[in-house]
Amino acid sequence: MPDPFDLTAVTAALANSIFSNKIHHLSRTASTNTLALEAAQSGAPHGSVWVADEQTAGRGRSNHTWHSITGEGLYLSVLLRPQIPLVDALWLSLATGLAARTAITSTTGLKPDIRWPNDILIDNKKCGGILVETSTTAPQSEAPAMLRYAVIGIGINVNHQSFPTELYALATSLRRESGRSWKREQLLVELLRALEDELDLLEAERRGSSINPRLLDRFTAASTWVRGKPVRVDEAGGYTGVTDGLDARGFLRVAGDDGVLHTVLSGGVRTL
Ligand code: BTN
Repeated sequence: MPDPFDLTAVTAALANSIFSNKIHHLSRTASTNTLALEAAQSGAPHGSVWVADEQTAGRGRSNHTWHSITGEGLYLSVLLRPQIPLVDALWLSLATGLAARTAITSTTGLKPDIRWPNDILIDNKKCGGILVETSTTAPQSEAPAMLRYAVIGIGINVNHQSFPTELYALATSLRRESGRSWKREQLLVELLRALEDELDLLEAERRGSSINPRLLDRFTAASTWVRGKPVRVDEAGGYTGVTDGLDARGFLRVAGDDGVLHTVLSGGVRTL
């Protein structure tokens, strides 16, 4: 049996953070993102967090499911209410990917890669994924649509020793990569601290409504996928090419084998 989750220790460690006294633990839920979206609609505050031992209907990007067995992984959702235009929402995804990477490194010493926009990989296998879901206000005449809230769902494979057959070649866990198990509580605390740091940096760095280059520079330095990676992209009918950096808003550019400089909007980037 996995260790019971120690919410008291997590709450104490994050007493001076934006998450203070806003962390909720559940043994089992369908999806922490679904829970957070419902709570957001009911007025839950910025910085609320839901973490579950098990999800019975964990959701991934592109309508995938997220393998969420009891006690082996970290499954959480964070509710944020940043005052930013919808067009800048991508920075939340990039910043969360950086935070997850930082937390994994500070907890385990492992050095994950980030596949744009925010798949966490070790040795080209996925150990973490991020699903950002947003609600926006309607645009007012000249003013752009603003974020009302964002739910950031993060799943990290922590202590899994094996995976279902269909995931075996694609997925890994921190335990499989390091040879030992890890406390989910410690990783959660590191993750939320790193996320708050990223949010503070972004707030300080942001210029008007455009994404700050320093986030893009940090992301580019942390990911081998941003430049010079031969890839296949599963959008716009599918194409192949070589990654060519991020544009000003953080979208991935790919110099296509068809001679076109593509902008990847939604992910689905794979190695050739
Ligand atoms: C992906 O890589 O496809 C994103 C996976 C996101 C999974 C997390 S687990 C916690 C939260 N609740 C969900 O239902 N999904 C996210």
